[in-house]
Amino acid sequence: MNPLAIELNDMLAQNNPHVLEMLSDLGKNLFFPKGILTQSAEAKEKAHKFNATIGIATENGGPMYLQCIQDKLSAFDPKDIYPYAPPAGKPELRALWTEKMLRENPSQKGKFFSNPIVTNALTHGLSIVADMFVDKGDHLILPDMLWGNYNLTFGTCSGAVVQKFPTFTTAGGFDVNAFKTVLKNTAEEKGKAIVLLNFPNNPSGYTPTVAEGDALVAAIKEVAESGCNIVAISDDAYFGLFYEDSLKESLFGKLANLHPRILAIKLDGATKEEFVWGFRTGFITFADGNSKENAPVLTALEKKAMGIIRARISNCPHPSQTFAIEALRSPDFLKQKEEKFQILKGRALKTKAVLNSGKYDSAWTYYPFNSGYFMCLKLKTVDAEKLRVHLLNKYGVGGISIGKTDLRIAFSCIDEKDIQELFDIIYQAAQDLA
Ligand SMILES: Cc1ncc(COP(=O)(O)O)c(C=O)c1O
Repeated sequence: MNPLAIELNDMLAQNNPHVLEMLSDLGKNLFFPKGILTQSAEAKEKAHKFNATIGIATENGGPMYLQCIQDKLSAFDPKDIYPYAPPAGKPELRALWTEKMLRENPSQKGKFFSNPIVTNALTHGLSIVADMFVDKGDHLILPDMLWGNYNLTFGTCSGAVVQKFPTFTTAGGFDVNAFKTVLKNTAEEKGKAIVLLNFPNNPSGYTPTVAEGDALVAAIKEVAESGCNIVAISDDAYFGLFYEDSLKESLFGKLANLHPRILAIKLDGATKEEFVWGFRTGFITFADGNSKENAPVLTALEKKAMGIIRARISNCPHPSQTFAIEALRSPDFLKQKEEKFQILKGRALKTKAVLNSGKYDSAWTYYPFNSGYFMCLKLKTVDAEKLRVHLLNKYGVGGISIGKTDLRIAFSCIDEKDIQELFDIIYQAAQDLA
């Protein structure tokens, strides 16, 4: 093992050995090399005559660039666009995101957590977590309504065994008891569990109530107290899009510093929250169980995350980080975000009103939804995939079939005025096939 990895592991062993136990074999081996990047950083400070370290081309005291590109990006200083961004992301962006997290998550105030590290959006954050914490055969606990890509990232790439629990009770609430049962079983069998909770949920569009959120946190704490190490991941991809009476902050704030055997990880980003999907800018933030400042654990995790970033992608795109900084600093940012929120909320509430008309009750019920981009129909009379294909071929309407009964509808991309017509068509298509 590399001496730098040993050093980081010693920091974990001395300050929270449970976190060391949670790491995968790869996670234990990870370190951030003191190679070219460290030497370049040193030279940036001291090499005032000639700096011949950096792996870019320079000209006139700045990065070399092509004018045909700069012409389109002339509002930006070339130094904020063309050079590599630091491996953990631009410091200004990390500071602005910390501020934003604290503003929007009251439970996170007064907690100890790492500086968010910039990722190539949430998918990359998920794969960092899989690399750092998942060994072949580890259990990943998920509700049965889940984003399908988790199977690829955690199952196919890292060999996790997915343990699912039913998302909803028959009464239509989040099934906290089912979650707890699966978590307890994993605790007994493995002594280690990776819990992945995504709210607002894709595909259901559900965020738990405050009481359900508290019950989830209490269940995780109880199982940790019984001696199980738990990596508790909050996938907050759709954070902020809470339209009704649900929890309006991340569970991360409540899981942070809760118990030495709970490592809370927050994955979030600008992609969906700021409507910049293609920019690929996200964050990973860690909080272990220590309720007093425990910098060595957070430093070790940060260095290991930077190591896997360096190994897989070297660093994240610089222009998108600059654009995100500009947005977060803009005096219009909050107002403009609120305008878009109201549009999406209008679509969600209209969807519910249309579905509650009683008109479609013979064809489907729907799963509870109160947030995010999506909702799911539960079909009564036709197969979801058959309906999806028929809708496309006969009516030119696209949805996503999930399993035999569920059809996911992204109300986020249907104008409010078109929502009635959309469901009328889906109903007609179901009648055609019934
Ligand atoms: C629940 C969930 N997590 C993560 C992602 C990935 O987000 P990103 O585009 O930021 O990688 C998605 C995207 O569809 C998602 O639905």
